[in-house]
Amino acid sequence: MSLQYSTTSFAAHKDEAPFEIEELFFSRTDERGVIAAGNEVFRRVSEYSWEELVGAPHKIIRHPDMPKGVFYIFWERIKKGLATGAYVKNRAKDGRYYWVYAIISPIQGGYVSVRLKPTSKVFDSAKATYAEILKLEEQEGLTPEQSAAAIRAKLQEMGFPSYGAFSSYAIAQEMHARDHALSRAEDGRLQSLKNLLPTLKSLDEQQQSLFASFAKIRGIPSNMRIVASRLEPAGGPISAISQNYRLMSDEVTNHLGGFRVETENKSLSESVILRVYQGLFMMAASRLQREVKTVASEALSRGTEKDGFQQEVEILTKLLDEYTLEAGQVLMSVFNDVTALTRSAKDLRQLVTGLDSIRVLCRVEAGRLGAQSVSLTPVIDQLDTFHVEIDKTLEQILELADKIKTLVEAAMPRSFNGTLQYQATMARR
Ligand SMILES: Cc1cc2nc3c(=O)[nH]c(=O)nc-3n(C[C@H](O)[C@H](O)[C@H](O)COP(=O)(O)O)c2cc1C
Repeated sequence: MSLQYSTTSFAAHKDEAPFEIEELFFSRTDERGVIAAGNEVFRRVSEYSWEELVGAPHKIIRHPDMPKGVFYIFWERIKKGLATGAYVKNRAKDGRYYWVYAIISPIQGGYVSVRLKPTSKVFDSAKATYAEILKLEEQEGLTPEQSAAAIRAKLQEMGFPSYGAFSSYAIAQEMHARDHALSRAEDGRLQSLKNLLPTLKSLDEQQQSLFASFAKIRGIPSNMRIVASRLEPAGGPISAISQNYRLMSDEVTNHLGGFRVETENKSLSESVILRVYQGLFMMAASRLQREVKTVASEALSRGTEKDGFQQEVEILTKLLDEYTLEAGQVLMSVFNDVTALTRSAKDLRQLVTGLDSIRVLCRVEAGRLGAQSVSLTPVIDQLDTFHVEIDKTLEQILELADKIKTLVEAAMPRSFNGTLQYQATMARR
């Protein structure tokens, strides 16, 4: 690589290179990150000429304050074909800095990066985290891979299940802050998706409590049999009841499988949460892509871009379609899974009603035995508590599932609404 692009060839300057919040810029590179094209805003803010930019590696604008771990994660993801968002501090030719939130999308033969000016609160915490990680890199001589692991650990600590989840949250917050700064109405679709996250978290908690309730009663049938052996001759009514209870509760427990994603041993809501983050990213990216495509088309008609810019507009248009499609598909899969969960919860409620009638039989039998049955009381009390708990949990699961479906419907890209309505009608049948 030519010395000309060394990141130490210009001193980093403490002044900011200005650009406006309404401005969006983009660049396109080949598979190695060598710049192939971009728009005029990108060129202007970087302060290089097109002759200097085209054919240069993108690190020409690398700022020394950027932790290596960020680029490690960034490349690791985009090489796998994953669209990725990141806060990046860049350095203009004269040494001034500028921050962007970039979305990098893999395309045929390379990548496209679309950038906006970050202004949200997440940006403040990202800057603080970058400074912390940079210090660690310097003091402990971290390799880029170790630095990436430190960033991921930090994000986990902040409550993000993955880097992808963080970048989804960040882009949604940036779009929100930008809409606000530009006095635009908040994007209702993104808002619905953001509201889904706490609702899914509650659903996850209810599912965990359902599993815990079932785990608690696992020993009940054998306790009942032991008590029965003391109270009645073998094969008496209480042991028959305990036998039935065991068979039915096994069936119910098997049914709980419907709440798990078999392969990853995750609860369904955990898996759905990850997909909602993905949907949030795709929706936000598709909005950004729509805007940058519009800006690029306008610039093309004004004739303010370089020759051959038509190709860039076509690439951006294609990306917009892909993001919209992916967002719709991800949300559709969330909708279908939550519909399946509702079905499972309803079936479970029915099975538990059957189980409950055995509990009632047990109470009747204990009543018939009178004072003798005192040793059976704690077992029956435990069953009573269990049934109250389960009823409440299932009711909450059903309520939350309904709320989630409404929010997903509200977030769905317009072009998917018809499919969704069709599926919802089929599901109600
Ligand atoms: C589409 C695309 C856009 C990029 N944009 C930037 C950017 O704005 N600033 C930057 O420092 N690196 C950017 N990079 C990453 C650089 O290629 C490079 O990995 C980074 O500057 C770190 O360089 P280093 O790993 O040699 O330290 C971009 C890469 C691609 C593929």
